[in-house]
Amino acid sequence: MTTTYRIAPSILSADFARLGEEVKSVIDAGADWIHFDVMDNHYVPNLTFGPMVCKALKPHAKTAMGRAVPIDVHLMISPVDALAASFAEAGADLISFHPDASGHVHRSIQAIKSKGLKAGLVFNPAKPLDVLEWTIDEIDLVLIMSVNPGFGGQSFIDSALRKIEQARKWIDASGRDIRLEVDGGIKTDNIRRVANAGADTFVAGSAIFGKPDYKAVIEQMRVALG
Ligand code: DX5
Ligand code: ZN
Repeated sequence: MTTTYRIAPSILSADFARLGEEVKSVIDAGADWIHFDVMDNHYVPNLTFGPMVCKALKPHAKTAMGRAVPIDVHLMISPVDALAASFAEAGADLISFHPDASGHVHRSIQAIKSKGLKAGLVFNPAKPLDVLEWTIDEIDLVLIMSVNPGFGGQSFIDSALRKIEQARKWIDASGRDIRLEVDGGIKTDNIRRVANAGADTFVAGSAIFGKPDYKAVIEQMRVALG
């Protein structure tokens, strides 16, 4: 079976003064999902945007032909549940959170799924995957952090590759349709290695928004993925 790869540009590295245009441009350039990094200056030492910005961007998250492009919300916040519900109402399509940011992981997953959205769990570089043993039947996405969350433009942490391999085994053994996404330090020259480890969805912020031609970067990533 051939893997359908997805590229999810992170608007954390976009021009915040022109976010709507940036979302449109990166979709025209071939983005599959829009990755939306929510930081609270509590779970991570940085502060970004909330549900109101997601709602404002929602009408821009579609192709020139009018097809909706999923908004992939990555919550780096604690607590999780109340804001997850607000993001569901603001037009998010997938919501992922860090299990260590929630007192009741299963309840937070249910809070997202009860709104009809896809739910994901995110694992920091030094966190084990063990919570998956009890949640894999509930979730739609596993997100492996290959940098410490909080900032764009950091270098890929190689031990993430081993964790991706492990997550791939668990996902395949579950027999469920679960995306395996990787976030942090993804570039045109390492994306193939990350795919070889088992990832199928790639977040890239600075690699795309840091270059003048978004389309050229996304095309190079697709060529590397083969
Ligand atoms: C970091 C965020 C990432 C960030 C990745 O906490 O979760 O999504 O935008 O940025 P790059 O691709 O520049 O490493
Ligand atoms: Zn992210």
